[in-house]
Amino acid sequence: MKVIVCKNYDEMSAKAYEVMKEVLSSKDNAILGLATGSTPIGLYKEMIKDYKAGNVSYKNVSSVNLDEYIGQGVGDEQSYVEFMRNNLFNHVDIDLAKTDLPCGKAEDMQAECDRYNAKLASISVDIQVLGIGGNGHIGFNEPGTPFGSVTHVVDLTERTISDNARFFNSIEEVPTQAISMGIKNVMNAKKILLLASGTNKADAIYATVKGEVTETVPASILQLHPDCYIIVDEAAASKL
Ligand code: PGA
Repeated sequence: MKVIVCKNYDEMSAKAYEVMKEVLSSKDNAILGLATGSTPIGLYKEMIKDYKAGNVSYKNVSSVNLDEYIGQGVGDEQSYVEFMRNNLFNHVDIDLAKTDLPCGKAEDMQAECDRYNAKLASISVDIQVLGIGGNGHIGFNEPGTPFGSVTHVVDLTERTISDNARFFNSIEEVPTQAISMGIKNVMNAKKILLLASGTNKADAIYATVKGEVTETVPASILQLHPDCYIIVDEAAASKL
C-alpha cells in the first residue's frame, strides 16, 4: 500500500488526480472504475478542469461503477447514475454508452448481478476509485462480506444508512438495499485509488492500513493488492 497523507481535501483531490492522470495518459482507452459519495467529487472536479483545459480526452474511455441503490436509476435524483452524470460524465467528452453502473431498477436483480459480473469478467479495470465507509466498507460491501464476493444485493447497515442520510430529506428516505460490486471484483482492478477525508474516517483508515486483514474490515483486503494508493487528508490519517 502506498499511503499518502495530504493537508486537506483539496490537496487529497489534486494528488488523486495525479494518479488518475498517469493512467489516462498511458492509454487513450482506459477503463475507469468509479465511485460515488462526497469523497471523490474533488477528484472529478480536477478531471473536468483538466479536460476543459484541453489536456485530456475521454472519447475512448469507458467506465464501470461500484454500486447503485435498489429502486434508483436514470432520472432519479438520488440515484448514483445521476450522481455520475451530474458530477462527471456530463462535463467531459465520455460516451454515455461506454459508462455502466449496476441497475437498481432491474426487474430481476439476480439477472442484473449476473450481467454485471459477466461484464466485469470481460474487462480489465485500469484504476478503481474507492471511498471508504466509516465502518470500513468499500462499495457497499459491509463488514462481514466475504472477500470472495462478486456483484450482489446488499442490506445496508444502520451505520451506512445514517451516514448517507445527509443526502436525503429524512433517514426514512434512505434506501435500505443496494446492488454492489463484490470485493473480488474490486480487487481485480490493476490499480486501486482509495480516498478518505475527515475524522469520521480515521478509525476505518487505521484499521485498513494498520489492522489485520479481516472480513470485519472490508477495506483491509487492500493490504494484499499489488498496486494500491491510499490518499487521505490529515484528519483521516489522524489515528495512523
Ligand atoms: P462518502 O462515502 O464519500 O460520502 O463519505 C464513502 C463510502 O461510503 O464509501
